[in-house]
Amino acid sequence: MVKFAQVKGFLFDLDGVIANTSVYHAKAWHQLADELGVTWTEDLGNQLKGVGRMDSLNLILKYGGKENDYTEDEKIKYAEEKNDNYLKLLDTLDKSEILPGMEDFIKDLAAHHYLISLASSSKNSPLVLEKLGLAQYFDEKVDPATLKHGKPDPEIYTRAAEVLNLKPEECIGLEDASAGVTSINGSGAISVGIGDPKVLHEADINFNDTSEVTLDNIKKEMDKKKVLDD
Ligand code: BG6
Ligand code: MG
Repeated sequence: MVKFAQVKGFLFDLDGVIANTSVYHAKAWHQLADELGVTWTEDLGNQLKGVGRMDSLNLILKYGGKENDYTEDEKIKYAEEKNDNYLKLLDTLDKSEILPGMEDFIKDLAAHHYLISLASSSKNSPLVLEKLGLAQYFDEKVDPATLKHGKPDPEIYTRAAEVLNLKPEECIGLEDASAGVTSINGSGAISVGIGDPKVLHEADINFNDTSEVTLDNIKKEMDKKKVLDD
């Protein structure tokens, strides 16, 4: 792992890292799973985190043993229905749903001239960032519609570093999802997992929640790893 002083950029997931919106994604998927007759479990919810729209629907159908029950057109209709329900839940979204400490952290990064990009799988991320009043802090955003492969494939984090003209090794990626941590690790960036360390055990650095995510704490954790590596 590089030293903290060599880090130049931060690559952000959005849902569940910057805002509480992963709860709304889960609510809308749960609603659809009920309609499709697939039993919702915590494990299924964790598998869906960070995963793109159609891949999520396919995971739900597979989980319920229904992967061959619907045509592509029917699946597109169900994915649209989920998104309509998700958008309804976003109606009242505002700054108050930024997760604890994240606004200060992002402002601190900008004040220290780190480059910042967005590596969210969500096609709704521009809308969410605008509603949260945080769009201006992002130097670049990866458009998930331009990717060949979704998380856990590394493509989105490789691209998130590339759009900042940085190597992934010079960047730190922040994730709440297991699929996202796998994606960061595959790109070569340093992975910060935020949430249950048992679920995010592949991350280079773990924090239990967003309030612990500060430049000082990241530096401390990287220094500890450096000592262990040496
Ligand atoms: C990710 C969420 O950020 O975006 C997933 O963690 C979601 O839950 C995915 O399915 C795709 O989002 P959207 O808004 O394009 O359907
Ligand atoms: Mg997420």
